[in-house]
Amino acid sequence: MNKKSTGKKKTVKKAKGNKNLKTFISSQKVAARVKALARRISKDYAGKVPIFIGVLNGSFIFISDLVREVTVDVEIDFLKLSSYGDSKISSGEVRLLKDLNCQIEGRDIIIVEDIIDSGLSMKYIRDLVLQHHPASLEFCALLMKKGLSNLSFNIKYVGFEIENRFVVGYGLDYAQKYRNLKEVAILLNG
Ligand code: IMP
Ligand code: MG
Repeated sequence: MNKKSTGKKKTVKKAKGNKNLKTFISSQKVAARVKALARRISKDYAGKVPIFIGVLNGSFIFISDLVREVTVDVEIDFLKLSSYGDSKISSGEVRLLKDLNCQIEGRDIIIVEDIIDSGLSMKYIRDLVLQHHPASLEFCALLMKKGLSNLSFNIKYVGFEIENRFVVGYGLDYAQKYRNLKEVAILLNG
């Protein structure tokens, strides 16, 4: 069938050619960084079976690429927090929308997040997980906004530190859109 005759709009997969989007981190750069993080994690957790906990929805692409590059055995679970809704600014309040299904006690836990902005979500998750007495707890974020996170604990694995810009793609959304971009992009007029 002739594609042009369907009248369907092409799905946005790249910022290029979209006037609302500007490429910020190319898909090649993201992939290389994910591999490097996975190598470090594989080394740090040699002989262990960590549980990767993805924070939904934003981390779904990052965690799936990350765990496929990790060479140690892993287990995977997800939790879901209240999101920004359709706004670009955090409500300042975090609510748990989906709890964990795994047993945390005595296990090595790695929280996987798309982006850390104020750090409120990570703080909430840290308190939640620590109540269940893990053997260890670390955090892995693809992106971390510079200067904004007033965190009292360390984020061990960070993909990229970025300026305070609102970004989309590679799992990150604006009003649920753009998660399927292969790259990280800046939203110009959203
Ligand atoms: P925090 O609790 O303020 O650190 O916010 C973290 C969450 O807000 C992330 O998991 C994202 O879901 C969302 N978020 C923060 N900054 C951005 C952004 O620039 N683009 C898309 N989502 C963002
Ligand atoms: Mg998120």
